[in-house]
Amino acid sequence: MRQKFIAGNWKLWGTLDQAKALVSALTPALKSSKNRFLVAPPYTALSAVKELTKGTSLLVGAQDCSNLETGARTGEISVPMLKELGVDVVILGHSERRQFHGETDKLVNEKIKLVLKHGLEVIYCNGETLAEREAGKAAEVVIRQTKEAFAGISEADLKKITIAYEPVWAIGTGKTATPQDANEIHQVIRQTVKELYSKAAADAMIIQYGGSVKPENVKDLMAMPDIDGALVGGASLKADTFLPICLFDQ
Ligand code: PGA
Repeated sequence: MRQKFIAGNWKLWGTLDQAKALVSALTPALKSSKNRFLVAPPYTALSAVKELTKGTSLLVGAQDCSNLETGARTGEISVPMLKELGVDVVILGHSERRQFHGETDKLVNEKIKLVLKHGLEVIYCNGETLAEREAGKAAEVVIRQTKEAFAGISEADLKKITIAYEPVWAIGTGKTATPQDANEIHQVIRQTVKELYSKAAADAMIIQYGGSVKPENVKDLMAMPDIDGALVGGASLKADTFLPICLFDQ
């Protein structure tokens, strides 16, 4: 049985006060669940959020990192800097990074390797655009993305990687993939991991779904055999909506 893993991606949201208030509302409520949880606040709130989550089950994630450890990259943040703050997980390859910052599969692969080298975990995102889905290419796209992202990564390192399937057309749009459609692509991704590594690696891989996950649709999504959790954007910004998602099985 794979453990369910629910993560909140706050994107460009959250003053320090908002971040502290939200985390303080989440931690006591999540205490008794056997699921795994994470919040990924903006960089400016990482330190404060880490402090508040000490001794709790809530993991802290960063939303990106540089592909370099140090150097001339104005505005970027490195893995060692995130590690120093106590960050547990780095989200990589999010479609907004690909769309607005021109990130390629090759760059995402470099970042994954760097994060693993420093012993942190990765949530690796992939997913097709609306045009790709309409052209019948959803499976082809995620297979290509997964192969490129995992190039040069050992089977032992997979334990530190979660995959988040996020169809781009479902992110922030209110359109959710049907549980069946999502599960179909999750199976394609799992099969790709099997071909690249082994059946054991594929069976163990946690694959989250992301894209307009809400309290109203979370149960049906999590009931699918290959959906092992969620990467939540908009609905993770309020305890009122994030907690029912985290605790969907209670
Ligand atoms: P959303 O975002 O839940 O607001 O659709 C998901 C994501 O981008 O991770």
